[in-house]
Amino acid sequence: ICAADAARTPAWWETCRDEVLARAARGTPRYLYHLPTVRERARELAALPAIDRRFYALKANPHPAILRTLEAEGFGFECVSAGELEHLFAVLPALAPARVLFTPSFAPRDEYEDAFERGVHVTVDSLAPLRQWPELLRGRRVLLRIDPGFGEGHHEKVRTGGREAKFGLAEDALPEFLAAVRELGLRITGLHAHIGSGVQDPRHWRTVFARLAALADRIGTVEVIDVGGGLGVAYDPDGEAFDLGAYGAALADARAGWPHYSLWVEPGRWLVAEAGALLLSVTQVATKSGVRRIGADAGMNALMRPALYSAWHRIVNLSRLHEAEGAPADVVGPVCETGDVLGRRRCLPDATAEGDVLLVAHAGAYGMSMANRYNLRDLPAEDVFDV
Ligand code: LLP
Repeated sequence: ICAADAARTPAWWETCRDEVLARAARGTPRYLYHLPTVRERARELAALPAIDRRFYALKANPHPAILRTLEAEGFGFECVSAGELEHLFAVLPALAPARVLFTPSFAPRDEYEDAFERGVHVTVDSLAPLRQWPELLRGRRVLLRIDPGFGEGHHEKVRTGGREAKFGLAEDALPEFLAAVRELGLRITGLHAHIGSGVQDPRHWRTVFARLAALADRIGTVEVIDVGGGLGVAYDPDGEAFDLGAYGAALADARAGWPHYSLWVEPGRWLVAEAGALLLSVTQVATKSGVRRIGADAGMNALMRPALYSAWHRIVNLSRLHEAEGAPADVVGPVCETGDVLGRRRCLPDATAEGDVLLVAHAGAYGMSMANRYNLRDLPAEDVFDV
């Protein structure tokens, strides 16, 4: 478990360690986002010729500086609630509505109404909106979210396809859906699918594209195929990196059979995960029954991913970055739950003590956006860093 760090390319927070520590001195818990990393990822993705349009799934991290950075890189945005739409247009008032997708799940009527009024692309993902609100839907242009019958991703809670997932129209329900479409004079301009988050094998998107394209051929009015987001990230620096080249190749291969459809994608995590770090301060160090615990000033309230998905994030003692790794310790937060553990059996320096700065890496996606005030603790601060 205590792998040596020697051969790794330094992360931005290692290269800029003094500045990161200076930010931590302003107060922790604090999220810090490195905008050059966001730009670098955006450009890598933009360089894939198979993709026509990219929409950033802002649920991953809606920080205004990140939205502005990605807008400047030519990205559109994928929103899932009226709140996200409102936030997006408040940050980017001049953004063209055609650069925005609204892809909600079981949202109330007024959120669809709001989205149609704003003129953004709207996705429906079951017959319910057509049946429940025919007057609102009549004559509209919409995308239809399909459940391709399988889900993928880093944890069962983030797999969004298959019978047990709430998302999308099952393929066998298409004829009934199309009958309702004809009745309401709706036009399906796009097909959409998102199979899950943290997908490592790019071949899945080829399968998804092929399924959607085959359905699109049956529908006849489809111009766009949106294969969602889900690109994986290597949280463990010794782990397998996401193969962007293979992703681009799988999409290019899929498209070859259907060049007439425009291909859209909606990545969230991949663009921002590595750009974010969570800075914490050590509060107490205690040992019970042979288990050493390093306490931090925030835990599952600031970063839910370890508690919710058993997600692994690298944790370092930034104040003692170059000291030798010590005996394994659990890094825990101050929340009154047994699950409030950010990392188990981590080899932080033995001298780790109150006031040291801990850095939780790859926390830029689904970190602050899922933080909460449980136990009435304050939300973390947020800072950006652009060098
Ligand atoms: N499009 C749709 C329709 C989505 O539901 C999502 C994510 C995305 C795109 C972006 O997926 P990404 O590229 O970020 O994987 N909180 C979980 C992840 C939940 C993802 C929800 N939907 C986590 O921390 O792992």
